[in-house]
Amino acid sequence: MRKPFIAGNWKMNTTLSEARELTQDLVEHMASVELCDLAVCVPFVYLFAVGEIVKGTKIVLGAQNLHWEEKGAFTGEVSAAMLKDFGTDLVIIGHSERRHIMGESDEMIGKKLRRALDAGLRPILCLGELLEEREAGTTEEVLRRQLEEDFKNIKGEDMASVTIAYEPVWAIGTGRTATPGQAAEAHEFIRHLLAGMYNSAIAQDTRIQYGGSVKPENAYDLFKEEEIDGFLVGGASLSAEDFSKIVEEALRARDL
Ligand code: PGA
Repeated sequence: MRKPFIAGNWKMNTTLSEARELTQDLVEHMASVELCDLAVCVPFVYLFAVGEIVKGTKIVLGAQNLHWEEKGAFTGEVSAAMLKDFGTDLVIIGHSERRHIMGESDEMIGKKLRRALDAGLRPILCLGELLEEREAGTTEEVLRRQLEEDFKNIKGEDMASVTIAYEPVWAIGTGRTATPGQAAEAHEFIRHLLAGMYNSAIAQDTRIQYGGSVKPENAYDLFKEEEIDGFLVGGASLSAEDFSKIVEEALRARDL
């Protein structure tokens, strides 16, 4: 069985003192959670402070981006080795805000994925369609293109370290969640693609998170879908209470 995996994505939020307080609260709320993997993906500048607090706890430290080159003349960028230096274990790659606001291409995302894996970081690779793509009926086409291009240089043996997050762009930060059925259908399709790109064992073992307006109120129904292995939580991860409630609801949905 794929172990549930719920990660918070703080995006560009919190001050240093808020980051510390939120992390302390999370550690207190999550101390007894055993049956779910947990992570927080925080702004680069707070990795050190948050890392000090989560050290030795259940909560894994994650970043939200990296550069694909090892080092060099890339002003303002952060390398995989720098992330590792701070005790970072996970990194979000290809978030829709980076694809659509910062203009990241599938080629860049593919290179970031390769770099992260080479450096021993575990990536959460995000993909998902825009509203107009869903309305035009091209969701599967978009997911296929993103998956095939992003994973072009990723081998089967790398896949044990990879988590995929299906995040329909129209559901991110909008309060409009995909229905459990819509999410499960997309996850099933991603798994079908993975079976073709790798094999059915890899497709079955790869964890696929859902992301997009996950809240304590919808976590139970979403997690009732077997295809959903976890969540990537944005807005609601900024409250330790909401985040822990989401974890609780997800585990309740699976009778864990
Ligand atoms: P949201 O963000 O939960 O605020 O919709 C999810 C994400 O972007 O990862």
